[in-house]
Amino acid sequence: MTIIRPYIDNDAADLIALFTETVRRINIRDYTPEQIAVWAPKEADHVAWKERFARCMTFVAEDEQGVAGFGQLDMNGHIDCFYIAHDRIGSGVGSMLLRAIEQRAHELGIKKLHTEASITARPFFARRGFRIVQEQSVVRKGIALTNFLMEKDLG
Ligand SMILES: CC(C)(COP(=O)(O)OP(=O)(O)OC[C@H]1O[C@@H](n2cnc3c(N)ncnc32)[C@H](O)[C@@H]1OP(=O)(O)O)[C@@H](O)C(=O)NCCC(=O)NCCS
Repeated sequence: MTIIRPYIDNDAADLIALFTETVRRINIRDYTPEQIAVWAPKEADHVAWKERFARCMTFVAEDEQGVAGFGQLDMNGHIDCFYIAHDRIGSGVGSMLLRAIEQRAHELGIKKLHTEASITARPFFARRGFRIVQEQSVVRKGIALTNFLMEKDLG
């Protein structure tokens, strides 16, 4: 059974490892090795991650095997990280996590959600009511990566 629960400090290492594996195994389908290397470096910046975990509400999906995914929401309605474990992709975890984030956002009075969706995640968000605002290019360590600013009104 998969549950969604709030982040605890002990999750940090597992979530960073999940992120790195997912980007390297799943997003590699849509990005070059050079892009993947700057997006998910082998040596993760744990200090930057800790700051991110402190700044956002992080929702953790967990099943019998351990952490299955995580997503982050801030008070401006921004969905920051949203990653599912590479071996659980397509099994409904992302949908469950997004429902939990939308419900929490609704409870907090947030009227609009927005995210910078990867090429990989764009169809997933589109099928869940997010519309593309613009295609954009972010530059990390001199390497440009394409993503899509997407938003959704919450009823
Ligand atoms: C995108 C992502 C979050 C979706 O999570 P998931 O657990 O695989 O999604 P679910 O199993 O709940 O739903 C899958 C649905 O989305 C669709 N889908 C997911 N990824 C897709 C893709 N790359 N292309 C087309 N459809 C996709 C599936 O067809 C399925 O459709 P359905 O509505 O008919 O069921 C996950 O695939 C992921 O972590 N991707 C890599 C990391 C990433 O890019 N994260 C976003 C960073 S901005």
